[in-house]
Amino acid sequence: MGAVQGCSRAGRDHRIIHAMTSTSQSSHTVWHHATVTRQRREQLNGHRGVILWFTGLSGSGKSTLAHAVEERLHQQGCRTFVCDGDNVRHGLCGDLGFSREDRAENIRRIGQMARLFVESGMIVLTAFISPFAVDRQRVRMMVERSEDFIEVFCDCPLGICEQRDVKGLYQRARKGEVSDFTGISSPYEPPPHADLIVKTGERTVDQCVQEVLALLYARGVVPLTRENV
Ligand code: ADX
Repeated sequence: MGAVQGCSRAGRDHRIIHAMTSTSQSSHTVWHHATVTRQRREQLNGHRGVILWFTGLSGSGKSTLAHAVEERLHQQGCRTFVCDGDNVRHGLCGDLGFSREDRAENIRRIGQMARLFVESGMIVLTAFISPFAVDRQRVRMMVERSEDFIEVFCDCPLGICEQRDVKGLYQRARKGEVSDFTGISSPYEPPPHADLIVKTGERTVDQCVQEVLALLYARGVVPLTRENV
């Protein structure tokens, strides 16, 4: 596969900001450098490590799309993992609710976890509402290179999400039984500069999958071969 390390000015600026925003409360700790590097893992895998960050309202199709993309990538021999909002909130973020602060902490933890996946050379697909632009931006700054974070906006009108109401939560939120519900009583900030916008309310899952895969090929995350056309 081609070179994975870019050296553009934007890339360099990103690395500087990344270093400045990496803070730790743990003193007397020393970073241990691995001999098996990210680059060696990526070479073994035959693709780059990356975060595919799906954002959008509850019911906008983030999880469905993330799992469908993963299925295709897995069939092509890629190393992948899906982190899903509901699942993570049972464990790693089980102590967090839906206040502004808790959502920020939720996304921070997921970001740090996703960053480790990237270091391991994997393609990690995350499906979190992540409604606040600043929280998503913070994750973008956590990663080593700006191209490690690909933001995919699952753009589906609230009306359609509410109509689907797979979990019955919109109905409960409308009755006031669920507080701070995104789209009803808590805001969702659409990404102003998403890497990709998929119209999940209008297009089929297959069409959306194709759009995401096309981006991964175009960016050189996964090499385009005759088998995966
Ligand atoms: S995030 O805002 O912090 O990114 P996250 O993606 O982890 O949210 O969790 C969202 C899921 O939690 C929704 O799909 C829904 O099933 C459930 N949920 C429960 N309460 C709320 C709420 N108040 N707002 C949004 N989602 C909620």
